[in-house]
Amino acid sequence: MPFYEQSVDTLIDERTLFARIRELGKEIARDYSGKNLTLLAVLKGSIFFATDLARAIDLPLCMEFLGVSSYQGGTETTGEVRITSDVTTPMAGKDLLVVEDIIDTGLTMKFLLENLQARHPASLRVCTLLEKPARAKARIDIHYRGFVIDDRFVVGYGLDFSERYRNLPFIGVMRS
Ligand code: IMP
Ligand code: MG
Repeated sequence: MPFYEQSVDTLIDERTLFARIRELGKEIARDYSGKNLTLLAVLKGSIFFATDLARAIDLPLCMEFLGVSSYQGGTETTGEVRITSDVTTPMAGKDLLVVEDIIDTGLTMKFLLENLQARHPASLRVCTLLEKPARAKARIDIHYRGFVIDDRFVVGYGLDFSERYRNLPFIGVMRS
């Protein structure tokens, strides 16, 4: 029996995830044909999504990784964000697609977009696997979204609870 069986219920199963990621990949490939696409994955949460999404995009592309950490008050971000590890190449002139696991309050993404815009990319868009609109505090223009979910704390497929559960192959909710 898998270790998570007692503690986590499935919200979005593996098949549903991959079907949606394939659709997103096709949409992105259509939109970025002939462009200079760089997927900028936000660590650590988007790592599984970014690598699967990259394989669903039938185009030449580059991948970059950027680590952020939001200061948390309980399970909620305070909006104070730090870049914990930066990209290794200049972002100027690139068609940047920021890949996130989840947009919750939107405060992390707001900070990130302002920071990246100052580096003068050719274009800047957002792709998030999940969006929790119930908790939005900043208005973010999301170009590609996998799923809209209710206000529940989710884990798995990159998302953690105290750094655990990232390796579940699906999106789940903690059983209380
Ligand atoms: P935001 O700044 O509130 O939009 O959220 C920033 C970060 O909080 C996300 O990138 C996630 O790392 C984390 N987060 C938000 N909601 C959840 C959740 O339901 N499960 C796990 N992590 C979450
Ligand atoms: Mg994150």
